[in-house]
Amino acid sequence: MSKHDPNRVLIFDTTLRDGEQSPGCSMTPDEKLRVARALAELGVDVIEAGFPAASRGDWESVNAIARQVRGPVICGLARCNRDDIDKAWTAVRDAERPRIHVFLATSAIHREHKLKMAKEEIIRTAVEGVRLARSLCEDIEFSPEDASRTELDFLTEVVQAAVDAGASTINVPDTVGYTTPQEFLETFAHLRRHVRGAGQVTFSVHCHDDLGMAVANSLSAVLGGARQVECTINGIGERAGNCSLEEIVMAIRTREQVFGVHTAIQSQKLYPTCRLVSSITGMPIPRNKAVTGENAFAHESGIHQHGMLRHASTYEIMRPKDVGLSRTHLVLGKHSGRHAFRERVRELGFELDEAELNRVFERFKALADRKKELFDGDIEALVMKLDTESGGPWFLERLESGSKSGGDGHAHVVLRHADGRVAEQRANGDGPVDAAFKAIEDATGIRVKLRSFEVRSVSEGEDAQGEALVTVEYGGRTHRGSSVTTDIVESGVRAFLEVINRIELGRQSGRASADGRVDARAAQAAV
Ligand code: KIV
Ligand code: ZN
Repeated sequence: MSKHDPNRVLIFDTTLRDGEQSPGCSMTPDEKLRVARALAELGVDVIEAGFPAASRGDWESVNAIARQVRGPVICGLARCNRDDIDKAWTAVRDAERPRIHVFLATSAIHREHKLKMAKEEIIRTAVEGVRLARSLCEDIEFSPEDASRTELDFLTEVVQAAVDAGASTINVPDTVGYTTPQEFLETFAHLRRHVRGAGQVTFSVHCHDDLGMAVANSLSAVLGGARQVECTINGIGERAGNCSLEEIVMAIRTREQVFGVHTAIQSQKLYPTCRLVSSITGMPIPRNKAVTGENAFAHESGIHQHGMLRHASTYEIMRPKDVGLSRTHLVLGKHSGRHAFRERVRELGFELDEAELNRVFERFKALADRKKELFDGDIEALVMKLDTESGGPWFLERLESGSKSGGDGHAHVVLRHADGRVAEQRANGDGPVDAAFKAIEDATGIRVKLRSFEVRSVSEGEDAQGEALVTVEYGGRTHRGSSVTTDIVESGVRAFLEVINRIELGRQSGRASADGRVDARAAQAAV
């Protein structure tokens, strides 16, 4: 990490911690590992892999990432207490470069209502937490939670105490998305002016998007001297989300003259990474999303099209290829060979090892038998679903479904469990998809409340593949699943089965959700 380059902004990705706390964005340990690998390829400087004290599952995921992902610093979150700090340390200590991130709320609202601690106690607890963490690990980050609503003098005092106790990164969170660009610039300028030893510390910014200003506030903090930005892929995170990684990176890059800084992100890998996280979390990228939305580079009006034909820069401030969005539509067909396929996968920004490439290529050939033409979207969908579709424990053996006009539908579903059981059910419903969902509920014994079922095409043509997104509620939590095939009923059924599998895995590990997010929230609420 180039700590000596004063104009380098470090990208700290918290998709796997703050992002995963977003409703319905839970990920299995394998999915987290896949995202962590993609983040390393993207070039992030720090991966916040999770909150190890939240649950055994969280600890294991953070530990697996620390052991297997090389390149970025791997960081674990902890409250200022021995148990959390020990767990964070044991989870990350095998990383090439481990970091412990300790946090404690500092605002009057949190002091009085949540922590019931006086200012002196806050300072003492923060110092003890940082010292303890520093006795285990060299790289310590400290966050005064709800910093943006903390009295500036007290914030400065806490930050000074944390720096003196050994924190080398001071993160200033706008926990509730309340600050404004001007206000945050002044906060950072104030801290850098008044904290002794500020020159030796990396100041970091962490913004939430409750008022839609997370990216703007983070950029302002950079102008105020922050040299680490905490952000998430697709901006996922608590409530309205966090600062979006792809947006801040492209803002810094596109307006380099204004901000005078740079990052080490491989921007052409942004889109594939965003698609991967979207497909794993089942949270679609909105069409009009800045930088990566389907419409971000589409020009509809005649005047714009005319300008674009003359010169792309008339209406485009970034090139699609800079963010990994390909303009090529028709790509490959049934007769395309492995070599051409490998090249296309690479051009789309994916790095696959030989075994992965073989698996995707097999699926590509199978799809090419059913579909006349294959588009970039099809290949992306095949790569995205590489690890996510066959995880089990329930597998779809057979699906037969049909419908009559008037909405009546019927389905016959045969499922096989990893433990060898075979479950077969028939059901009727309001259309074939509804009938199949009922049959799956009967077969698995897991009853959920369906919140939404959406289908969108991932490519073009009458035989385009349909991506189904299913959102359900179970045990007071939101769960999402997604799947892509050329048959939309089958897509829906596979997406539904993915949700059922997440729930079943969560039940097996004795938690209310598959990822321990329940525990994480309860733990955070108890701080
Ligand atoms: O939003 C926040 O304050 C956080 C801290 C734990 C850094 O996520
Ligand atoms: Zn946060």
